[in-house]
Amino acid sequence: MNNRIQRPPAEVRYADELALLAGEDSGPRPPGWAMTLRAARTFVMGDDDRNIRGKYVGDPSLVERSLVTLATTRGLMLVGEPGTAKSLLSELISAAVSGDSTLTIQGGAATTEDQIRYSWNYALLVAEGPSVRALVPAPMLRGMGEGRIVRFEEITRCPLEVQDTLLSLLSERVLAVPELTGDDAMVYARDGFNIIATANTRDRGVNEMSAALKRRFNFETVHPISDFDTEVDLVRTESAALLRASGVTIDQDPALTELLVTLFRDLRTGTTSDGTAVEKLSSVMSTAEAVSLAHATGIRGWFLRGDTGTVADLAESLAGTASKDSAEDAARLGRYIERQAHRYSGSAWHELREAHSGPPRR
Ligand SMILES: Nc1ncnc2c1ncn2[C@@H]1O[C@H](COP(=O)(O)OP(=O)(O)OP(=O)(O)O)[C@@H](O)[C@H]1O
Ligand SMILES: [Mg+2]
Repeated sequence: MNNRIQRPPAEVRYADELALLAGEDSGPRPPGWAMTLRAARTFVMGDDDRNIRGKYVGDPSLVERSLVTLATTRGLMLVGEPGTAKSLLSELISAAVSGDSTLTIQGGAATTEDQIRYSWNYALLVAEGPSVRALVPAPMLRGMGEGRIVRFEEITRCPLEVQDTLLSLLSERVLAVPELTGDDAMVYARDGFNIIATANTRDRGVNEMSAALKRRFNFETVHPISDFDTEVDLVRTESAALLRASGVTIDQDPALTELLVTLFRDLRTGTTSDGTAVEKLSSVMSTAEAVSLAHATGIRGWFLRGDTGTVADLAESLAGTASKDSAEDAARLGRYIERQAHRYSGSAWHELREAHSGPPRR
């Protein structure tokens, strides 16, 4: 039987690091936290001397401010372009602060209050009436009662009235279960409870959130990686890890990763590295997309032919990525390859032009 879990939560993936950090962690810590704020920052940003891997690549002060917010009574709202590691950051921070990143609400048009607060096991409810046994806690009830971080992904995709369920929970710090009586009817938030919400700037806007709810959060913007070499390194390490997990045992050509990142950055920012203007794509050309494209390229090469993927494989997958928002993007990508690819030297770029001008794909 196949038992391998595709993506265990951060507290499982990095259990060794969390144990190491907690073991040497003696300073003062915010009430209810599983480790100090400093250790949590190290867990996310990494520390070569202690063999802690850097997991989020970006501004350490963003991580510090985020942790500080979580130690206050305001929630943390991570906003930014798609694929900039908002969800990853929220997962890593929850794993560090609470030892658990799984109290997660996935926001969407169909999210209901039940998925945020609690619902009932109807068989038990009918048989016994309302009781603690019949109560099915949702992440907010658990996070408040257990003193842990609750993650609310893509909060702005929820209907506004559902978002506003959070208002009283965040200010009163108590969740009422009116069907129960006595002590069970009130779940008071314990130390360590707070919320990390994420919102994507391409989705329905954060500005539609009610002013009352916005006031209960500190907003932090997560930006795409600004430095070229850093982004190349990240795409290389992340895609190598994904390829290993997919059973691909040889390394990808570094020139291919460089080409991919260059192309993504040019089309994301609307300018080549020598400053020539190019047409931006309306599709998101994020680092996360670059990682999955490098992964797909490796899979094509390995499972179709036994190599780690060529520029032609990359070109095959690229068309799909670049045209998911509008058909016009595919044409823009074509024009970029025809008119700009010659600016870059190296055989990988030559192959890209060849792949583009080659026989039409079936
Ligand atoms: N700055 C970064 N640090 C580390 N990984 C990054 C970074 N930027 C992108 N990534 C890559 O992107 C993946 C994370 O994407 P994630 O899903 O967290 O983004 P997101 O901002 O939540 O996107 P979305 O808005 O689409 O939900 C990581 O697993 C990693 O491969
Ligand atoms: Mg996300």
